[in-house]
Amino acid sequence: MNVLITGGSGFVGSALRRELRAAGHDVAITTRRDSDSPDELTWNPPSLIPPKKISTFDSIINLAGDAVYSGRWTRAKKERIRSSRVNTTYSLIESIKNADVKPTVLISASAIGFYGPHGDEEITEHVMPGTDFLASVCKDWESEALKAEEFGVRTVIIRLGIVLGTNGGALQQMITPFKAFVGGPLGSGRQWMSWVHLEDTTGFIMYALEKEKVSGIYNMTAPNPVTNKEFSTALGKALNRPSLFPVPACILKAALGEFGHVLLTGQRCLPERVLTAGYSFKYPLLDEALTSVLQ
Ligand SMILES: NC(=O)c1ccc[n+]([C@@H]2O[C@H](COP(=O)([O-])OP(=O)(O)OC[C@H]3O[C@@H](n4cnc5c(N)ncnc54)[C@H](OP(=O)(O)O)[C@@H]3O)[C@@H](O)[C@H]2O)c1
Repeated sequence: MNVLITGGSGFVGSALRRELRAAGHDVAITTRRDSDSPDELTWNPPSLIPPKKISTFDSIINLAGDAVYSGRWTRAKKERIRSSRVNTTYSLIESIKNADVKPTVLISASAIGFYGPHGDEEITEHVMPGTDFLASVCKDWESEALKAEEFGVRTVIIRLGIVLGTNGGALQQMITPFKAFVGGPLGSGRQWMSWVHLEDTTGFIMYALEKEKVSGIYNMTAPNPVTNKEFSTALGKALNRPSLFPVPACILKAALGEFGHVLLTGQRCLPERVLTAGYSFKYPLLDEALTSVLQ
């Protein structure tokens, strides 16, 4: 298979690129950087990817997006979060529209932020979108990607939870206070965290590439979400550190504003359609997932 990954230089994309290559596929990535490498395509949206180039790929995996989990959300940061997903996906779809030969499948990232904050309710793919900033970004991001269906492209949306892996992602930021012996839950710790191991993220993407019956929306989260307090305890245990120092909600809100509010709320997502599709999780339980990532 000839596969193109947008945002393929990132945390998920780099791991996916390695695994696809190991499985014998030809993989190219897009990057905004200048690159001479034949398997790295310089692409700066809103420009389009040349149609002839698009026609060389059987499959496209759309992962591009400005990092959400870093720093305070200023107005400029929020605009980057939105445009790097919604406008970039619009440009990708326009590029596919212009290509004579279209890819067979498009797998496009989204996030469980689609649902907005929820309490203890179990969230499957049928739940309606939330109304906050992240929910509106995810909704528009998905709408752009789903336009590929109009050209007969099998389209798969993966609503990612917190991806746990080495060398990147949100976990690296969570580890720092634990290593300094001052780790603990955020706020009350009652908010849910739907997490997924990086190997299951890439595993399901590879599964979805091969299986023609996989299409539409999928919660890409492990089947056993935990509360933030449970997550903190498990992380402390995996790092052999205490989890005794809760971060007060008012400090998070004052330091991080709207992003702080996101960390103090969450979703209890279930991967109902991933399981129905027959995918078997390598890491269904948090303790094993953390041990594998932190060993
Ligand atoms: N990791 C998670 O826990 C998680 C959770 C939910 C959703 N997701 C979504 O899954 C996707 C992949 O996640 P990730 O953790 O691999 O992200 P990542 O490490 O931040 O990588 C995303 C890539 O997107 C490209 N990019 C950044 N800003 C961009 C912009 N303004 N315009 C176009 N491209 C831009 C970058 O590539 P270049 O600099 O090379 O251009 C970057 O390598 C993202 O869209 C993310 O929102 C991830």
